[in-house]
Amino acid sequence: MLNIFKIISVLLVLCGSGRLAASEMITSPNGVLTLVVGADKEGAFYQVNRSDEQVIAPSKLGFLLKSGKNFSKGLTVANAEILDFDQTWELPWGERQYVRNNFRELLVTFAGGADTLRVQFRLYDDGLGFRYIFPDSIAGDEITSERTEFNFSGPGTAWWIEARLSNRYEYLYKETPIEAVSMAHTPISFRLDSGTHVSLHEAALVNYSGMSVRHTQGRKFTADLAPNAKGSKVTLGAGHTSPWRTIQISGDAKGLIMSDLILNLNEPNKLGDVSWVKPGKYVGIWWGMHLGINTWGSGPKHGATTSEVKRYIDFAAKYGFSGVLVEGWNIGWDGDWFNNGAIFSFTKPYPDFDIAELTRYSKEKGVPIIGHHETSGNVGNYESQMEAAFDLYEKMGVTKVKTGYVADAGDIDRMTEDGTPVKEFHDGQFMSNHHIRVLLAAAKRKISINSHEPIKDTGLRRTYPNWLSREGARGMEYSAWGTPGNPPSHTVILPFTRMLSGPMDFTPGIFDLEIADLKPGNRVESTIAKQLAYYVVLYSPIQMAADLPKNYEANLAPFQFIRDVPTDWAESIALTAEIGEHVTFARKDRNSEAWYIGSITGDNARTVNLPLDFLNKGQRYRAEIYVDGEGADWKTNPYAIDIISREVSQSDHLILNLASGGGAAVRLVPIK
Ligand code: NOJ
Repeated sequence: MLNIFKIISVLLVLCGSGRLAASEMITSPNGVLTLVVGADKEGAFYQVNRSDEQVIAPSKLGFLLKSGKNFSKGLTVANAEILDFDQTWELPWGERQYVRNNFRELLVTFAGGADTLRVQFRLYDDGLGFRYIFPDSIAGDEITSERTEFNFSGPGTAWWIEARLSNRYEYLYKETPIEAVSMAHTPISFRLDSGTHVSLHEAALVNYSGMSVRHTQGRKFTADLAPNAKGSKVTLGAGHTSPWRTIQISGDAKGLIMSDLILNLNEPNKLGDVSWVKPGKYVGIWWGMHLGINTWGSGPKHGATTSEVKRYIDFAAKYGFSGVLVEGWNIGWDGDWFNNGAIFSFTKPYPDFDIAELTRYSKEKGVPIIGHHETSGNVGNYESQMEAAFDLYEKMGVTKVKTGYVADAGDIDRMTEDGTPVKEFHDGQFMSNHHIRVLLAAAKRKISINSHEPIKDTGLRRTYPNWLSREGARGMEYSAWGTPGNPPSHTVILPFTRMLSGPMDFTPGIFDLEIADLKPGNRVESTIAKQLAYYVVLYSPIQMAADLPKNYEANLAPFQFIRDVPTDWAESIALTAEIGEHVTFARKDRNSEAWYIGSITGDNARTVNLPLDFLNKGQRYRAEIYVDGEGADWKTNPYAIDIISREVSQSDHLILNLASGGGAAVRLVPIK
């Protein structure tokens, strides 16, 4: 492993006259990005250029405190330290095995406010991150507003979802001019008219409130932190830092989806040996609830019965899946579970779910149950049972738990220390800490977590590798729920927005796309080949085969791809990318020499021409191609699929015709 950590210089920059300079400038390792940080009469600011293009015009830094202490105006640059860093580190699981972390850092100390304020910038070739290092003198104070700005120099288009609406992150993305954004969740992504692509987000959201970006004037945004129950934003402690504010910048859309900047800005693994964290594929007692065939609650349609769980375990064992998700096994689902979070028990099963027998059966078949903790947003109730809940699952041999926080934004229930019930946001400071409490309690029992209705991902899987996946956007379930479902464009926007933050448990693999007899009028707006392509395109280390077992057993030929595709990769390469139009990934299996390709399009049918130059030279491969067939179209003919096998090598191109709402999935296996 390469590890060069070299401090270039520690500078106190003096002008000829001996006065402190107004600004500092650094360039990224290969020189493509330039960062200027300084202070003028309006306060501290930064600015970013990519080659000759000014991308971010001077933008303010700073924050306001409840005490009235000032960290915005009247600041000067008192000190600046620069260091170069170049290290390659290993991901225990991920889109690639090795990640290069190569940046130039500028640590600026501003003086003149209530105390000195340090701002740490890390400039990469594909963007930057910066964070505030708060002085200990303000421990106990509260941030009432963060003033960080993102001021775009030129016009462009934004893809975004509105922040602080009731459904959290579960909205269809809007595509508008920059000036038409109101307040957006991050990641929010931009294609500037110059062709430069930018995405705003944050990394390492710990003990702080999530940041949305509010459009103020022109093309300027300001940070807007999720409020807390006290009416402020963040309570500060000693040694407090903000999360990293991130700006990913690239010449094209491929550059955005190849960037490891968010992960690089997170702390290394704090859990030690995590060989017990296992990627994999799972099935579950789940889609039936969303289709209305089963219920979470007790009664004649109860899904999580002993016999039904056994049937799923048998199916998983037969077809090589490593887990069965079981929702609705525990007391609390009867009645209005959305509003009754206080009555969930996380240890008491319904009488028709036999814990002892299912523990025995799942061990015998070698297929662990994937646990489920739906809190309905009552985090107080959950935290009071959490240790016992994970103890029970540990005894049952459960190694993965899906958590759920179904509640409107701002409607998380908890108790204060003096027992007063209060409400919080899913992305507030309290919840940023709650999720880490869950990860640590789970890690003690070698359990990994997949959170639904989560706080957004900010790369914390690097620090806590048992945070396997999460939802945090509209997943497959929206296709079962009615109008509007997920239109074909949704999944060609997600890779450039939500998925820049990390893995998503989208739950692909629906083969009965019309669900006609169950949900008349509802559609999964996709072809069958696109469903297969999702396993490669929409990265997650755990992938569900979400449909009912009978729909797979009736379609064993396309099902073979789901059985074959791995969920842990040695390498990932973006082959085609245009936000809202199409995206293609090639990924290499971490445990074999096979490569996989997933290619998807939105509404427009298109032909993609994919060079196979990433394959090993001199090696021949068998390409197993699953592509939209003649006349395929998500609306009129979603099931037309061609399954073709042919030999290819590194010098070949694959030319694939994708239907409207369609896609292609390819497995490339070396020929011995
Ligand atoms: C919403 C989740 O996204 C879904 O996967 C789950 O089945 C329900 N909540 C119940 O927990």
